[in-house]
Amino acid sequence: MKKQLKYLLGFFLFIVICSETVYGLTPLNNIPKSNSSCLNSTYTLEPLPYSQDSLEPYWDSDTIVIHHEKIEQAYVDNYISEVRRYPELESIDFEEILHNSKIIQKESKETILKYAGGIYNHNFLWRSISPQGGGNPTANIGDAIETQFKSFDNFKLEFEKTALNLCGSGWIWIVSDNKGNLSIKTTLNEDTPLVKKEHPILCLDLWEHAYYLKYQNRKSEYVTSFWSIVNWEFAENNYLNAFKK
Ligand SMILES: [Fe+2]
Repeated sequence: MKKQLKYLLGFFLFIVICSETVYGLTPLNNIPKSNSSCLNSTYTLEPLPYSQDSLEPYWDSDTIVIHHEKIEQAYVDNYISEVRRYPELESIDFEEILHNSKIIQKESKETILKYAGGIYNHNFLWRSISPQGGGNPTANIGDAIETQFKSFDNFKLEFEKTALNLCGSGWIWIVSDNKGNLSIKTTLNEDTPLVKKEHPILCLDLWEHAYYLKYQNRKSEYVTSFWSIVNWEFAENNYLNAFKK
């Protein structure tokens, strides 16, 4: 009986360590990871948290399938193949690598950070939107937006302007500092706000692969479509977590 309890306790601790912050990492915000493991050695593509066609008519299922099963899968495959060259990285969570890049050998740092960022950013994206999303922000995140941007409409305008001003491939983020001050920022390629110790609240992919099949050159329509599926519940959890750091 004692032995069984010991195993149960060990399993519980393992789950906690995998799903929570390690070395000050931002966790995927209290939403349990669906992956069987968060460690590099056994990491696999996380399933989407909803069906591929459930974001229609805002985001089409063809784009979602390619984006998730081909593009993000390629990031996972490339990342795993790169980290397997370094046995010391295999027992580490890929998010830890984004916070603690000193542990990566110099010759592979850029490549590993690119792929780890690609995985983190896409996992964060799939949770930043939801078939049940949209509407106005409420609760703490709603109050913060009203206070800092004067209105949700002003906030949306600034977000859209910033997104359209990004030249090349990258991401737009709403981030918070430890005191709950919000900012709208962009990152290039697969960079993440984590490396600057900022707390991501929401993100939107601005790479062409995220929208071109449906929206072609109408990037502004794609950016605006975000408001119909944005996941404010996820944003609220992330915002509250930002204060805990
Ligand atoms: Fe993408």
